[in-house]
Amino acid sequence: MERLAASYRLDYDVRARDYVSGGEVSSALRAILKQLSLPPDLVRRCCVACYEAEMNIIIHSFGGHMSIEIFPDRLEMIAQDSGPGIEDLQKAMQEGYSTASEEAREMGFGAGMGLPNIKANTDYFDIQTGKEGTTLTMKVLFLKKEGE
Ligand SMILES: Nc1ncnc2c1ncn2[C@@H]1O[C@H](COP(=O)(O)OP(=O)(O)O)[C@@H](O)[C@H]1O
Ligand SMILES: [Mg+2]
Repeated sequence: MERLAASYRLDYDVRARDYVSGGEVSSALRAILKQLSLPPDLVRRCCVACYEAEMNIIIHSFGGHMSIEIFPDRLEMIAQDSGPGIEDLQKAMQEGYSTASEEAREMGFGAGMGLPNIKANTDYFDIQTGKEGTTLTMKVLFLKKEGE
């Protein structure tokens, strides 16, 4: 764990409808976490949450930003966008619920599993949403023991 002593920060602007760039943030994150020798399951959980948050900005928002901080004992990510917000948060959290556009569906998105997957793969997950935008705060703890 000694190599985890350093703290890293990633900042990315994420453009709306920029499907081609989708996955860039989570790929960059994966590279760093692997370099830090983080266990594969933790890398996977961090990257799933990152990818889904990143894609939601691309698919559903007017554009936004992702800030990621890697501490020795945890990952913290904030995905922030400038609207239009999530109309029905309760529905949005249900598996299979999606308002993805026809364009996004044609590209294979819109399975409605993003937010449920973020929740399942993080140790802390908060959504603040309104017409001005949506902010997701996510944390993954590195030092938790199996089964906790
Ligand atoms: N950043 C966002 N801005 C606006 N709406 C969002 C955002 N993220 C999610 N949503 C809403 O929540 C729904 C469920 O999201 P998700 O589970 O990721 O499924 P999907 O992206 O496949 O539609 C979306 O279809 C959309 O209606
Ligand atoms: Mg999604």
